[in-house]
Amino acid sequence: MGHSRIAGTGAYLPAKALTNQEIEQRIETSDEWIFSRTGIRSRFVADENEQASDLALHASRRAMDAAGVTADDVDLIVLATSTPDLIFPSTACLLQQKLGVTHGAAFDIQAACTGFLYAVSIADKFVASGQCKCALVVGTEVFSRLLDWSDRRTCVLFGDGAGAVILRPSAEPGILSSHLHADGRQSHILEATGYVQDGVLHDHAFLHMDGQAVFKFAVRALEDVCNEALAANGLVGSDLDWLVPHQANVRIIQATANKLGLPADKIVTTLETQGNTSAASVPLALDAAVRDGRIQPGHLVLLEAVGAGMTWGAMLLRW
Ligand code: ACO
Repeated sequence: MGHSRIAGTGAYLPAKALTNQEIEQRIETSDEWIFSRTGIRSRFVADENEQASDLALHASRRAMDAAGVTADDVDLIVLATSTPDLIFPSTACLLQQKLGVTHGAAFDIQAACTGFLYAVSIADKFVASGQCKCALVVGTEVFSRLLDWSDRRTCVLFGDGAGAVILRPSAEPGILSSHLHADGRQSHILEATGYVQDGVLHDHAFLHMDGQAVFKFAVRALEDVCNEALAANGLVGSDLDWLVPHQANVRIIQATANKLGLPADKIVTTLETQGNTSAASVPLALDAAVRDGRIQPGHLVLLEAVGAGMTWGAMLLRW
């Protein structure tokens, strides 16, 4: 078994930003309430003609350019989303066609906000085993489509976007370890229960969340899985150069950082301007910190995420 490493990152955000002030005009809420409870001031919303595969296309091209690879090189696409273009074909296959990739496997992963970590972990196994030489891994969401814009408890939290990475074989380990979990007994605290039967949508297509239950679950699960990742590598929190967390709520991020003993300047946050982009949030934050030069070769980077399922995970990288 060899190793894989991230050879390039890319991201894409839709053109339209939607601020808290604009939401204030539509429903009974305030910038002060939203920002103080969540850390969010604004989020991006896709145009009605933009699908998850369109956002993914831009992010993927940027990651491929950064890694110096072309469509001919890509031999695996793993795409994480909870907002696929269609029931089928998979959004990964639609992306493959748009990119002009004509060989290798392409499939979707559904693990909600933890989807990108699940997807990278799977692609890592393909690349490290030698089965693939150039994997494109994408987290992409048009989450705004799942929101009831009259429900102030949920619509203020989420945004749209996409992030991507290219994984290539490496002599030295780039992905040191990944730690994935799920507990289906908690599926009811965060769900979108709509399903199609006999050509008709049944139940609720909108996201439903018990915010306090999710908050409590997330804080405990993230502390546990971050400690699991560190212990598996004989490390402690102070060894980390960067924490790149799922961007759900600044208070959840701070709770995790406090448990790890990490100061604020070692945490990458995009929440204030992007909101929670679900499976796209970790690769969007990773790309931001790579492109502005915060993450440097040799740095130790911890990724973590939690989401519906409930699912959660952490991944330790040597950049
Ligand atoms: N504006 C104004 N008031 C609001 C808003 C809003 N946008 N949303 C809720 N309120 C009101 C409620 O109606 C309620 O009023 P009431 O007491 O008169 O009924 C009051 O604020 C308190 O509501 P709570 O839901 O108890 O508010 P809470 O302090 O729990 O904060 C929040 C809600 C921010 C969602 C919090 O629970 C949270 O962050 N939970 C984590 C969930 C999360 O981050 N989910 C993201 C998706 S999951 C993931 O990515 C892991």
